Amino acid sequence: MALPKDKYLKYTLFYILRILMMKYARAPNPFNPRIPSHPDGFIGRENELSEFSNCLNSTIHSSTMSMAIVGNRGIGKSSFLAKCDYLAKNRNCIVIRFSSIEGGFESIEDLCSYILVQIQNEVTKRSKLALLKKSAIDFFKTFNFKISYKEFGIEVKTKASQSILQSLFREKLSEIWKNTSNSCSGIVIMIDEAEVIEKIPGALMFLREVFSRLGEEKSSYMLVLSGKLAFPQQMSEKFSPLARFFHPLELHNFTKQESALLIRTKLKSTKVKADDKTVAKIHEESEGHPYVLTAIAYVLYENLPEGDYELLLKHYDAIKPKIGNYLNTDYFGIMYRKLSPTTKLLLKYIAHQGGKVTFAEICKAVKKPKGTVSPLVTQLVEQGSLVKIERGTYKIFHNLYKEYILTTE
Ligand SMILES: Nc1ncnc2c1ncn2[C@@H]1O[C@H](COP(=O)(O)OP(=O)(O)OP(=O)(O)O)[C@@H](O)[C@H]1O
Ligand SMILES: [Mg+2]
Repeated sequence: MALPKDKYLKYTLFYILRILMMKYARAPNPFNPRIPSHPDGFIGRENELSEFSNCLNSTIHSSTMSMAIVGNRGIGKSSFLAKCDYLAKNRNCIVIRFSSIEGGFESIEDLCSYILVQIQNEVTKRSKLALLKKSAIDFFKTFNFKISYKEFGIEVKTKASQSILQSLFREKLSEIWKNTSNSCSGIVIMIDEAEVIEKIPGALMFLREVFSRLGEEKSSYMLVLSGKLAFPQQMSEKFSPLARFFHPLELHNFTKQESALLIRTKLKSTKVKADDKTVAKIHEESEGHPYVLTAIAYVLYENLPEGDYELLLKHYDAIKPKIGNYLNTDYFGIMYRKLSPTTKLLLKYIAHQGGKVTFAEICKAVKKPKGTVSPLVTQLVEQGSLVKIERGTYKIFHNLYKEYILTTE
């Protein structure tokens, strides 16, 4: 039955309008500072990735290498791990990746159990996908992933009991490797937010012992820790066994080219473009810091007036306060509020000095001896508010953070 003429016209108009709306509707915001980058959208870090690949290669060829990925908050550690996870899987490795925070470890025993449970989950997944050879699948059907030290009544408190736990844990891992080595080329364990582990007394040395012994017996395990780890920095000047075992790799801010690539790659999925001046401005203001850069781009895209399809300097200028609000609430405020009143005062003093000071200047200003000032400065460096730029010289980690400190209580 034919539609009446007026209804036909109404439907046609409705459809034309819908097509036009779909054509010109803006795609969802491609920038999300709160989540790590997907490996497909991962930008730059060519040298660091090739260092990871070299270490992975050594591990696969039975000369195990472990790494520590370090860097300030938001510098891209989790994104880097996700990319390395993807690369290692492409090399036919079994990869387990988790965050120490999600693991909630309080002791070395917790950590060992958690690693074994994660391997068990991954092995089960691989068995279901028939990614393991039949002999391996049969072996794991009866393999007990649990460490049964509790059955022997051992409490892991003393050094002696810790070494028993070390042997039990290593034996499990060794057996796992023997039975998976015909199905994969290596087992990579990636632990994000590993500063939690650093705080468990003896845990890093424990891991080093276990994994270096596994390496000696040619089990292809690679351990990658990532986080705001203090040990590589504290020990870099010494001949530290930890820094030697966990080859430290520090992530830095993006270069101008990397920043531009990030913005343009993300915008590709939308109809929005960014002109060169705006891209340069975002890089300059963010200093190429991945989180700050992504946050600025996010706010800019979110506030682009309807009907505009190009990020321009005029938009940037118009929403500058909104960028400030976003960064202060989501990032700087969280960092700053965690500080003690004394470290806040110290940071305020440094901000008033232009953001950069020497250790001697701080001691002179606060009229306190080196021994009192040093732990406070160390605390600020470990927490991420300060960075050491050269021997005895410190800088507030970001200019926008400095501005926040100057304007906050
Ligand atoms: N190489 C990269 N390519 C694309 N985006 C990146 C890259 N590195 C970081 N980012 C972006 O920067 C932001 C922060 O990255 P990420 O969460 O990985 O940092 P992080 O160092 O793990 O932070 P945190 O210290 O809070 O754990 C995210 O929005 C992420 O998408
Ligand atoms: Mg992270």
